[in-house]
Amino acid sequence: MMQLAMPAEPLLNVDNLVVEYGLGNKTVHAVSGVSLQVARGETLGLVGESGCGKSTLGRAVLQLRRAKSGRVLFDGEDLTAMEGEALRKMRRRVQLIFQDPIASLNPRRRIGDIVAEPLIIAGVKDAAERKRRVHEVLSAVGLDPDIVAGRLPHEFSGGQCQRICIARSLVLNPEFIVCDEPVSALDVSIRAQILNLLEEMKARFGLTLLFIAHDLAVVKAVSDRVAVMYLGRLCEVGPSEQLFARPAHPYT
Ligand SMILES: Nc1ncnc2c1ncn2[C@@H]1O[C@H](COP(=O)(O)OP(=O)(O)O)[C@@H](O)[C@H]1O
Ligand SMILES: [Mg+2]
Repeated sequence: MMQLAMPAEPLLNVDNLVVEYGLGNKTVHAVSGVSLQVARGETLGLVGESGCGKSTLGRAVLQLRRAKSGRVLFDGEDLTAMEGEALRKMRRRVQLIFQDPIASLNPRRRIGDIVAEPLIIAGVKDAAERKRRVHEVLSAVGLDPDIVAGRLPHEFSGGQCQRICIARSLVLNPEFIVCDEPVSALDVSIRAQILNLLEEMKARFGLTLLFIAHDLAVVKAVSDRVAVMYLGRLCEVGPSEQLFARPAHPYT
């Protein structure tokens, strides 16, 4: 496996992470000792076939699924050792965008309330401040807040729903976002728009991204480096051009 020189302190440092699921008396070894680093401002692509453990890894990084062993250092602090208030505070700095934008929006809630929800959970009590933030992020993702805030999710297309999800993920001003197959469920014709939007948001808000996909072309287009995952393990990490020019693993 190739290792690249990384800055002394990457924003994200995943060290020998192991995640398992118990299914009755059977154990699913979803992530088996994965180590990776993501530098501040970098996009690391994570690619691999369906079921190889990409989503599990992404969720374990954000502590939405707790690891069996290993560490997740974010900005030098070990998230796997955090609980309660410390973890809640840290969670404001890291966000997740899902594959299915329509399913990840509550169908009975208005867009303005959906996008404001992270602010409420984070304890932002000033309604005017919440409204200002919601307007800011809806505008940033290319939606007119005055038109969309009062509407319900079913009034929007898949691409527009993903814009709304991206707005929601930005509302707390995060530093790091796990994008878990953010365009896989979308029409091919609008994928490029959403990828461009993510790039634009990354530059504008100084984000660092872990970009998960099973589609190599998508990952290559947006990533500085790519990690290839296979059956719960990383088998290759390298800069996108190099990796795709001389693949060392049959999956690529
Ligand atoms: N909640 C769960 N319970 C049991 N097994 C799971 C669960 N989620 C995922 N798995 C299993 O863990 C492995 C990795 O899944 P996943 O992380 O979703 O892979 P990917 O995102 O690469 O498709 C698969 O074998 C999958 O069946
Ligand atoms: Mg997945």
